[in-house]
Amino acid sequence: MDYSIETAEKNGIVPSKSESNLPRNGLSIDCYRRAVGRPAREGGIRPATKVPSRRRKFYNSGVDSAFFIDLKLRIGFDGLDADNLHSLREVVEPAVAEVSDHFHEWLFRDPSARAVFTGGPAQMEKQRRVFADWVRDLFNGAYDFEYFQRRIDIGRTHVRVGMPQHYMFTSMQVVWQKLQEVIRRSGTPNAEAKLDSLHRLLVLETAVMLESYKDHYSQRLREEERTVAEERLTQSEHLAQIGQLAASLAHEIKNPLAGISGAIQVLRDQMDGDDPRQSVIREILGQINRLDATVKDLLVYARPRPPEFRPCDLVATTHRVVKLTREAVSLRNVPIAVHAESQVPPVPVDPRQIEQLIMNLVLNAAHACKMGGRIDVYISSVDRTAVLEVVDQGVGMTPEVRERAFEPFFTTRAKGTGLGLPICRKIVEAHKGTITLHSEPGKGTTVRVELPQTWA
Ligand code: HEM
Ligand SMILES: Nc1ncnc2c1ncn2[C@@H]1O[C@H](COP(=O)(O)OP(=O)(O)OP(=O)(O)O)[C@@H](O)[C@H]1O
Ligand SMILES: [Mg+2]
Repeated sequence: MDYSIETAEKNGIVPSKSESNLPRNGLSIDCYRRAVGRPAREGGIRPATKVPSRRRKFYNSGVDSAFFIDLKLRIGFDGLDADNLHSLREVVEPAVAEVSDHFHEWLFRDPSARAVFTGGPAQMEKQRRVFADWVRDLFNGAYDFEYFQRRIDIGRTHVRVGMPQHYMFTSMQVVWQKLQEVIRRSGTPNAEAKLDSLHRLLVLETAVMLESYKDHYSQRLREEERTVAEERLTQSEHLAQIGQLAASLAHEIKNPLAGISGAIQVLRDQMDGDDPRQSVIREILGQINRLDATVKDLLVYARPRPPEFRPCDLVATTHRVVKLTREAVSLRNVPIAVHAESQVPPVPVDPRQIEQLIMNLVLNAAHACKMGGRIDVYISSVDRTAVLEVVDQGVGMTPEVRERAFEPFFTTRAKGTGLGLPICRKIVEAHKGTITLHSEPGKGTTVRVELPQTWA
């Protein structure tokens, strides 16, 4: 064991320049020297030959050398303790396996502790090995910065594996009880003083592991938050670009489309009513209408108008939308019912936008019910909030579809554009409301819209 001051200074245990520069928590210089690792049997302090950085940090951790020195001071851990512990090395060595078995038997009895070992038996075995090494290390006699650093690693690993922090307290208690038993029964001289030293070291261990656990845990949280924020930013930049592109493209398409439509209608008007080409013309006009609707959707999505708020009767609007849906040939057979509370006060909204919102939701529900199922639309008013729910018993969504349903251009329908729900979300957000979606594959979907009934 090397207790020389050079080694202590190299390891950073002893403060680099003048000890008086460091806070000593009111302790005398002698006491301070003992606490920072000076062996009790050595005399005064020699000047440092090489001056290492006084506050060494480990990794990105806030736990640094000053923290370690301060801890030793607080706990009163000194060179005498180091000697005591080192003298127990030979005593504990033959019992390391016994201590480890005892600890792991206790640990693995608890199902929630076992659940931490997601790597199964191989990981449990690995922990047994590193734990045994840790027990040996307790008695190695050198409680320097390398020792301290090894303890910081443990805290970090425990954060990585998701070990709940409070396990550390109960674990230390189990280790402490077992080591006391081993040491007392060995008949080693001066056992009580040595146990005192061991107790101090275990307190030090717990404090370092908890501190580094806290550090790494908050660091991980910060990193996760940053990743989420960055992803959100990239996505919104991406959407803004798509929006710009879509808007200019839609403008380019709109006018030629109107021109084509007009020209075709001129041709149609020149044909006899029973001309066989009439059906081709109808097909062309149908496709042009579809394109026109898509272009309009694109424009609404990319360049939404700010809402013009007016009092709106939500129930009447819903009935109007439902009537229109019933008229659509392919959706004629889907039963739709509107259930409204008798008293739904007028809601301050942009009536045209809200009509589009309800239309998109009802159309989605109707498409989902083509192979069977019904649609119920509920309208109510709760705590100055208008609530509109479109409930269908259609095909429902898989978790993947649900996750992406509000993404622009995401569609599972051959004739879909994938702008229905993104437009709904934009409209609801412009009205300072909320839109939520619950869906189960094979059972159906519920979309709930809440709109404030107070004027902004
Ligand atoms: C006194 C208590 C404990 C000590 C001294 C201890 C010690 C250690 C050490 C030294 C490592 C290796 C650290 C490294 O990567 O450098 C480790 C890893 C680990 N510990 Fe602990 N541990 C304790 C309690 C626990 C508890 C209570 C659990 C679970 C509930 C646990 C689960 C693990 C797991 C899963 C690993 C990762 C093994 C791997 O590398 O895959 N430990 N522990
Ligand atoms: N009520 C619903 N039931 C099951 N799936 C739904 C429902 N509403 C939406 N979806 C799923 O979400 C996707 C996106 O819906 P969205 O309304 O945005 O686009 P779309 O209906 O495919 O096309 P369009 O732009 O014509 O509305 C749909 O393709 C469908 O897979
Ligand atoms: Mg849709």
